[in-house]
Amino acid sequence: MLRFLVLLCIFSTVLPLWNLEKRVAAEDLITCSGIVPMRHRNDKISITDFGGVGDGKTSNTKAFREAIYRIQHLRRRGGTLLYVPPGVYLTETFNLTSHMTLYLARGAVIKASQDTQNWPLIAPLPSYGRGRELPGGRYMSFIHGYGLRDVVITGENGTIDGQGDVWWNMWRQRTLQFTRPNLIEFMNSREIIISNVIFRNSPFWNIHPVYCSNVVIRYVTILAPADSPNTDGIDPDSSSNVCIEDSYIATGDDLVAVKSGWDEYGIAYGRPSSDITIRRITGSSPFSGIAIGSETSGGVENVLAEHISLFNVGVGIHVKTNIGRGGLIRNITVSDVYIENARKGIKIAGDVGGHPDERYDPNALPVVKDVIITNVWGVKVLQAGLIKGLKSSPFTGICLSDINLPGDTQAKRSPPPWSCSDVSGATHQVSPWPCSELSRSVQGNSCSSHF
Ligand SMILES: *[C@@H]1O[C@H](CO)[C@@H](O)[C@H](O)[C@H]1NC(C)=O
Ligand SMILES: *[C@@H]1O[C@H](CO)[C@@H](O)[C@H](O)[C@H]1NC(C)=O
Ligand SMILES: *[C@@H]1O[C@H](CO)[C@@H](O)[C@H](O)[C@H]1NC(C)=O
Repeated sequence: MLRFLVLLCIFSTVLPLWNLEKRVAAEDLITCSGIVPMRHRNDKISITDFGGVGDGKTSNTKAFREAIYRIQHLRRRGGTLLYVPPGVYLTETFNLTSHMTLYLARGAVIKASQDTQNWPLIAPLPSYGRGRELPGGRYMSFIHGYGLRDVVITGENGTIDGQGDVWWNMWRQRTLQFTRPNLIEFMNSREIIISNVIFRNSPFWNIHPVYCSNVVIRYVTILAPADSPNTDGIDPDSSSNVCIEDSYIATGDDLVAVKSGWDEYGIAYGRPSSDITIRRITGSSPFSGIAIGSETSGGVENVLAEHISLFNVGVGIHVKTNIGRGGLIRNITVSDVYIENARKGIKIAGDVGGHPDERYDPNALPVVKDVIITNVWGVKVLQAGLIKGLKSSPFTGICLSDINLPGDTQAKRSPPPWSCSDVSGATHQVSPWPCSELSRSVQGNSCSSHF
């Protein structure tokens, strides 16, 4: 390992990250903080002022809804902070409002009711045309924000607990009627900060900003059992200027997945995800670490993911799309990734994920270009890479450099080699040796500027 690091430092013409890390002292670390300014609120109220009781049994639905009604209708300059003291506050779903901070004290837990019968239903997202799991509407997220600006969810690492096991069991027993609720969803909102909060046991995806801009998610911990179905960590969806950093995510599905709508509905809605930064994330998942897709029909561009550490994952870096999706995926940069124990290190594939219905257009082909992956290393990665473009829409400009993903050195059989089809691009210092499809086309390829 040490020898490899030394070699990389000497030969690498791209960012020598180890030096960089040493050079960037803690105080001038690049962070998301410029994207949305942190607000200080002079007006503060407590959930206990509205009858909130943190005994884990009393329903606080009325308290949350009344407190937020008060923030919305008795608007104070600079907005209002809603304080949740230590204790366990059971509640049904509630909507946030603009210019507020939901502040969870150390030891505060906001716990979702398990009354799935009375859980409100809302319309499907227009870019999905139906619920993600089942046709028709979908259950509203536990904490919901629609058309908001200037909202902060923060505190002293209190917990938002989705108590998702009832939902996971309904999914397992096929008794769900509609698509399960996200833990937190913001729709059509901007200037959102989520920081210093622990999210546990989401019924479905954990944090879902959709049709949003200027969203910062940092210092969060997101936990759900590895076998909990579809508990994605953070899914920026048809959103721009999203910055996610310094977080730990261990769930049952992709840790971070950038999306933008589903097949004919996403194409018609036409809203891309762009300018997404993901950095200093650590985590585990039986599925992907950092994912683009598979719902990318509005397009995904200008994504930077860096300094990512993944332990026990299915696929480390996964760009996934399908026919019928349409959508342009371009300018994706992933760098400085450590992967320990994975089925695959890197996968870029055009045959992943289902369709909302039979009306998708098989001629709506995705375009994948300019994906740059640099400085990836790890241990026990069974297959380093698999790239599977589409015959009628080959992936182009796939640039791989400074990648060292040895298989399980203890294993008796040698690891499966890279597998590539319908792809062009270039490689530099990739071990094990990648496929000829990528090395054949160095000349005149846009990749060469990266090496
Ligand atoms: C909460 O927001 C949802 C979705 O925007 C809306 O349908 C519902 O009426 C709102 N509920 C309350 C209590 O305001
Ligand atoms: C909360 O957790 C984050 C991330 O683990 C950590 O960096 C931060 O120091 C913690 N904050 C407090 C107030 O405990
Ligand atoms: C590519 O994306 C990066 C962000 O990762 C951005 O800074 C850069 O301007 C983009 N380049 C182009 C050509 O769009």
